[in-house]
Amino acid sequence: MRRSQPAPVGRERPADALDLAMQVVNASPVVFFRWSASPGRPVTFISENVVQWGYQASDLVAGNPAFGDLIHPDDQPRIAAEIARQEVSAATGYDLEYRLLTAQSKVIWVADRTRVVRDADGRPAFFDGVLTDISERKQQQQELSDALKQQKQLNKRLEEANNQLMQSEKMASIGQLAAGVAHELNNPIGFVHSNLGTLDGYIHDLLAIIDGYDRMLARSGEASLYEDSIRQLKEQHDFAFLKDDIFNLLAESKDGLGRVRKIVLDLKNFSRVGEQEWQEADLHEGIDSTLNIVWNELKYKAKVIKEYGDIPHLFCLISQLNQVFMNLLVNAGHAIETQGTITIRTFRQDADTVCIEISDTGKGIAPEHMTRIFEPFFTTKPVGKGTGLGLSLSYGIVQRHGGRLEVDSVLGRGATFRVLLPINPAQKAAIQNPEISS
Ligand SMILES: Nc1ncnc2c1ncn2[C@@H]1O[C@H](COP(=O)(O)OP(=O)(O)O)[C@@H](O)[C@H]1O
Ligand SMILES: [Mg+2]
Repeated sequence: MRRSQPAPVGRERPADALDLAMQVVNASPVVFFRWSASPGRPVTFISENVVQWGYQASDLVAGNPAFGDLIHPDDQPRIAAEIARQEVSAATGYDLEYRLLTAQSKVIWVADRTRVVRDADGRPAFFDGVLTDISERKQQQQELSDALKQQKQLNKRLEEANNQLMQSEKMASIGQLAAGVAHELNNPIGFVHSNLGTLDGYIHDLLAIIDGYDRMLARSGEASLYEDSIRQLKEQHDFAFLKDDIFNLLAESKDGLGRVRKIVLDLKNFSRVGEQEWQEADLHEGIDSTLNIVWNELKYKAKVIKEYGDIPHLFCLISQLNQVFMNLLVNAGHAIETQGTITIRTFRQDADTVCIEISDTGKGIAPEHMTRIFEPFFTTKPVGKGTGLGLSLSYGIVQRHGGRLEVDSVLGRGATFRVLLPINPAQKAAIQNPEISS
């Protein structure tokens, strides 16, 4: 039976068996090779199917080009280190993935499985290995990792949006509360103001009546009869002082009421509930009312210098921009440890842009924090003092206006935040020319 079938490979004539083995090798996609560990590391064998990468086996065996030169320059140090490791250790070989250059200079990825053949002394004599083209897998891996990266970015953006939403919800409810209080206070302030005016008039009238009495008594000739008791009565009640002081009191009350009125107005300006709409607004007014709101936090530490330039009214969401100014001013205040200066500068950057610059002489920002400060929840402040949301929220608001929020800082010397806003944002064009945007 056995004799009638083709002889198994091992039983063929050696030359036939070798032929067959080479046929199998060359038909496979895997390139086989052996290179010698002798100086120059010459290739002593490489299967003919290396022609798939544009090379002739005979050329490579002749060292033209050298095998090492096929490896992508960026990967050469990695391979060299691995081979050096093989030479000094008793390792049996390596599995590496790296890039090869084809004869047409195309970059392909290969998986290299190499086994070391050692001599009697254990030194490497040959490196026998197989190379498999894995470019397609690498490509897929790359696409997958790109997709993952994109996904991560998307997740981060989503998280940011969510945080900003949370924060603006919070600010909206604070705004609502402020506007509610302001509205409720408006009415009593109104009648107290009006009553003070009336009272002023009444007191003038009363004093005129008293004066009249005095004059009449003086003229009647019976003055002596009552003069003493009237003088006594006046002295008892400190009439001369009262007459003066009553108007001082009134003036002070009016002044106090004026201040309360201003606070209420600032609260209203600041919150502008129901005005979450794009509108032309005066940024200086916005900054001033915001400054009044945060004044308590700043007044003991900082001298505030205003350098307002000539800037046009801006089409914007002013209540949101006020939040930006507030965050920047509060941060500037926090950065100043004992005493310092906060400078607010506004100017026209160019024909299309205005700039609002808030500088402080505080402790500045460490270089390694510069790229992180706009991240939501990034804070260097102790728990309870910072939420790390101020700048991320501000960044979002400025972006919504088509502007930029920039920062410069030298550690130990202070920081400058710059809000750059377009004078004619896209929203303005959209509102003025609705047909273009639709
Ligand atoms: N004017 C400034 N000077 C120094 N550091 C600042 C300034 N403004 C912001 N920072 C840094 O940026 C971080 C993030 O600011 P922010 O988002 O407003 O959060 P928070 O103020 O709650 O910490 C701060 O913790 C601080 O480290
Ligand atoms: Mg802050």
